[in-house]
Amino acid sequence: MSVTRRAQVRVRVPAKVNVQLAVGAARPDGFHDLANVFLAVGLYDEVTVTDADALTITCAGRDADQVPLDRTNLAARAAELLAARHGIDPRVHIHIAKDIPVAGGMAGGSADGAGALLACDALWGLGSPRSELLDICAELGSDVPFSLVGGAALGTGRGERLTELEVGGEFHWVFAVADGGLSTPAVYREFDRLTASASGSTSAPVAEPVASPALLEALRTGDATALAATLANDLQPAALSLRPGLSATLAAGTAAGALAALVSGSGPTTAFLTKSPETAAEVAEALLASGTCRTARVAPSPAAGATVVGATAAGA
Ligand code: C5P
Repeated sequence: MSVTRRAQVRVRVPAKVNVQLAVGAARPDGFHDLANVFLAVGLYDEVTVTDADALTITCAGRDADQVPLDRTNLAARAAELLAARHGIDPRVHIHIAKDIPVAGGMAGGSADGAGALLACDALWGLGSPRSELLDICAELGSDVPFSLVGGAALGTGRGERLTELEVGGEFHWVFAVADGGLSTPAVYREFDRLTASASGSTSAPVAEPVASPALLEALRTGDATALAATLANDLQPAALSLRPGLSATLAAGTAAGALAALVSGSGPTTAFLTKSPETAAEVAEALLASGTCRTARVAPSPAAGATVVGATAAGA
């Protein structure tokens, strides 16, 4: 019996932590201007695309049951957008091997969008220029361009306009994964509510978001202690307001020897910067023992952006 082999491409995509997330005023389009310093970390989803008769999607791995398998999945939308640009049918099966926490503030959904885009581009032999892929990523979501690029970058605008940053060494992280996710729009709405109630007005000016020179220098020199002193997330009060239990997680990681702790992006994952892989393992163990999180993961940074890690030609 002969079996027809389908062409297939596999892409690996990293998670991210925001080492600085400075949030400005809400814009007329509903988004907020940001100075968003992204750092890619070594927790990965793998997206495999295979020639198929129709666009289908499956997911396996950690929390796979929380991943939508319809056209709202950014991976499916990426395939559709790329196909539409080239006037082709997105007849592809997308499989996501999920390891990035779902709805956790680590850009797991964005990673899958960037991964599917790169994989489909290779599968269909399109060879799209990087600038075109980045345009499609920005259309998919504010964090998606960074998932493609990886490393470290400053995102301005709504976070989609990237300037790559130099990183002079490895940083060691622990991520405490909370029970359940947090909705990013809900966290931004809470940010707006807290900002308005602090100023006593909904129309008070909000400071323009700017990247911290000290933080960029700490990244450039690979200095974990200096980076720890400059970590900042303007969304953290909003995430803590919606999930007050996260304060106990932050305190447990700090007590266990982390250099610094913060909410990752819009949360509810919390991130702990440590001085070595050994300390990271100790902090992870202490976080688990504290009972303040569901699981704890260690990961180094920076990590490469979306990368093709395997390809099979049809009939091969
Ligand atoms: O771009 P993305 O689809 O990931 O954004 C999800 C939601 O997060 C937006 O609809 C908006 O509510 C909020 N957001 C924002 N400002 C940004 C990025 C996201 O208000 N810069």
